[in-house]
Amino acid sequence: MHIAQAVIYGVGIIAGHTAICVTVLNRIQAVGISHGEERVLKRVLYLFAASMLGYIVYTFIASHGQVLVNLHDMDPSYVDLCLYWIMFLLVFRPLQVLRDRCGAYWRLDESEVIDIPTEKHDEWAGATRFPHWPSYKWNQVLSLEVNRKSVLVDGLPAALNGLTITHVSDFHLVGVPGKPFFQWVTEQVNKLQSDLICVSGDIVDAPDCVDWLADIFGEMQARYGKFFVLGNHDIRKLERSDLIARLEALEMQWVGDASHIIDVDGESVRVCGTEMPWADSHPVIDLDREVALSIAVMHSPDPISWARRSNVDLALAGHLHGGQIRLPMVGPVVSPSLHGVRMASGVYRRGSTMLHVSRGLSGLQPIRWRCRPEITQLVIRNRS
Ligand SMILES: [Fe+2]
Repeated sequence: MHIAQAVIYGVGIIAGHTAICVTVLNRIQAVGISHGEERVLKRVLYLFAASMLGYIVYTFIASHGQVLVNLHDMDPSYVDLCLYWIMFLLVFRPLQVLRDRCGAYWRLDESEVIDIPTEKHDEWAGATRFPHWPSYKWNQVLSLEVNRKSVLVDGLPAALNGLTITHVSDFHLVGVPGKPFFQWVTEQVNKLQSDLICVSGDIVDAPDCVDWLADIFGEMQARYGKFFVLGNHDIRKLERSDLIARLEALEMQWVGDASHIIDVDGESVRVCGTEMPWADSHPVIDLDREVALSIAVMHSPDPISWARRSNVDLALAGHLHGGQIRLPMVGPVVSPSLHGVRMASGVYRRGSTMLHVSRGLSGLQPIRWRCRPEITQLVIRNRS
């Protein structure tokens, strides 16, 4: 076997093995099991990943790279599976991306990147275990992308044409970045002067940071209200009912298992939501009540089929952080969804339901590469 061919096979097998393990990892973190169960399963997966990597390297070296020359002569093995899996993904993923395009239903109107001045990094980085990471040039945790996107909805009444929603997600208040960063984010949110603010979960990770809520969410302003759901991280170390009560005291309205009807210039707008798969069941929406526009706030984008069944016009989700690291040519890799990386961030359409998935503002690990924290103002416009 030519050395170049052996290297290509080797890279393909390792890539396939990585893809299989990440595929399983993404599903483990998407099925709504407890944090403890998730940790056990992840450790089993990491053990499997390491031992199979050893097996692949041994097989490859022992056969002098010949392991794949005569595939048809071999018994089916994990090495073959790795190669077939990566070949499948190389064909399937681009087709998936093409199929998900819905450019006729939305457009990016404006996008601004705001980098925090270097002299503020030390103060705003927070008490990180990795004190230098936020300052690395490639790391985008201390920058912010403010986007304005128009989402087109069929049959929207004139009174709702131009309704604005600021969508923010995944604050992960844990100490990194520090409180000044998030207070500054609140200032940027208020500059947008939106009609509604929707927060799609993973608000706070550490009990110590609950005291930050008033200065962040209490200061946010929206004409017709601020709505939120909780995410899987919110209920790891904090009591769900206590956190909901604290946020409701800041004039935030919980829609994790509730539905609110608000009046916007004489038109009824429903704001509902779901916290599945980290709740017992989806809320049942009263579909007999006619509304001009229906908005759902979710943590994961996975309940999009529930949103479709509930006649939701616009669903807002987070949870996936856009992958946090997006490789050139590959895009996001880690994306804890039943759909993997398919809906890692951006705008999607399923049936007549539009879905916006935010990259969020932070994460437990202070690393972002080619995946900036994001605030998005969505402008709802009539398509017809
Ligand atoms: Fe999150």
